[in-house]
Amino acid sequence: MKTTLSVIKADIGSIGGHIRPSQALLDAVRSRIHAHRGNHLLIDARVSATGDDIAILMTHRHGVGDPAVHKLAWDAFRGGTDVARRQGLYGAGQDLLKDAFSGNVRGMGPAVAEMEFEERPAEPFLFFAADKTDPGAFNLPLYLAFADPMNTPGLLLSPELSQGFRFVIMDVGHTEGDRVIELNAPEDMYRIAALLRDTERYVVESVWSRATGEQAVAACTTRLHNIAGKYTGKDDPVMLVRVQKNFPATGEVLAPYAIGALVAGGMRGSHNMPLMPVPQESGVSYFDGPPVVSCAALCMHDGRLTEAEDAFAHPFWDRVRDQVAAKAIELRRQGFFGAAMLPMAELEYTGVTAMLAELEPRFRLREEARPQVAMRAG
Ligand code: F6R
Ligand code: MG
Ligand code: MG
Repeated sequence: MKTTLSVIKADIGSIGGHIRPSQALLDAVRSRIHAHRGNHLLIDARVSATGDDIAILMTHRHGVGDPAVHKLAWDAFRGGTDVARRQGLYGAGQDLLKDAFSGNVRGMGPAVAEMEFEERPAEPFLFFAADKTDPGAFNLPLYLAFADPMNTPGLLLSPELSQGFRFVIMDVGHTEGDRVIELNAPEDMYRIAALLRDTERYVVESVWSRATGEQAVAACTTRLHNIAGKYTGKDDPVMLVRVQKNFPATGEVLAPYAIGALVAGGMRGSHNMPLMPVPQESGVSYFDGPPVVSCAALCMHDGRLTEAEDAFAHPFWDRVRDQVAAKAIELRRQGFFGAAMLPMAELEYTGVTAMLAELEPRFRLREEARPQVAMRAG
């Protein structure tokens, strides 16, 4: 029998700015979800926070995109939003972009990652959640974990992994809607890299084992501004990764987060900042960031979840965090300049665009002045 693993996440309000949800808010969402554990809808569930976002991880038998499961998460977030408003939390209901639920939270604001599969006898998997960034933040870690033997020795050591992985990549910037392309590692590695370097345009939707056809990764591809037609906050993605056996080992999937790669989404959703791996429920701080990623490692059997190991709480990551903090401070030294701030099209605020429009009539052409200077010089 197949099991579905669904994670649905939203920013519905936080204390002290975009820092973290209040305990009352987290409790409100948790109690609404936990009431359904073991009933006809859910086998199991776990509610957690990363930065200012609340994620609901659920196991069930209803398949991907199930309206009842999605409505349960939506209602829990709506109920939570009432608590957020009562407490005066900042950005209450921020990611709930529509008033009425219409069958599926996709396209309504929350981030979603889901996959349905036949459970293996041992089913270890990782649940990643990132705050103050967008789905492209997972491009590099996934490329390294599933396509690069410099990161993943399993690609050389395991005959199953050596057969490579199929990447399904979404073009989230196409004007006529979402488009996807399927590319195979290793033979398409350069093509995969050519797409994944552009994190605002191309994002990994899923990754599949070519040895068995099994799904390894389900990642969120939601871009809030594609939904609302304007920027309404960063997209703060989630991702599920099955590990071990025919998939990369847990450590191979975690290793790329030691890089602290620069990602979009820091401070007012408008800056590049290094991605810091953090324990769950640790909030954000410096420069409304830096962008953070958490990872809960679990196993499941018949849909029942074990307790989660907080993968980035291990002391190893303290040193990484120090390095990422130093990188963040170094980048912030250049303020608004160059690569520190996002390009015009990606800015969450419209102030710069308005300022440029206001200056437009004050520009004058130099055409006449140039020849005179040239003649004098001659
Ligand atoms: C992510 C998030 C941010 C905000 C951004 C602007 O958690 O909420 O991307 O959307 O910082 O927020 P305001 O405009 O409220 O300062
Ligand atoms: Mg927020
Ligand atoms: Mg957030």
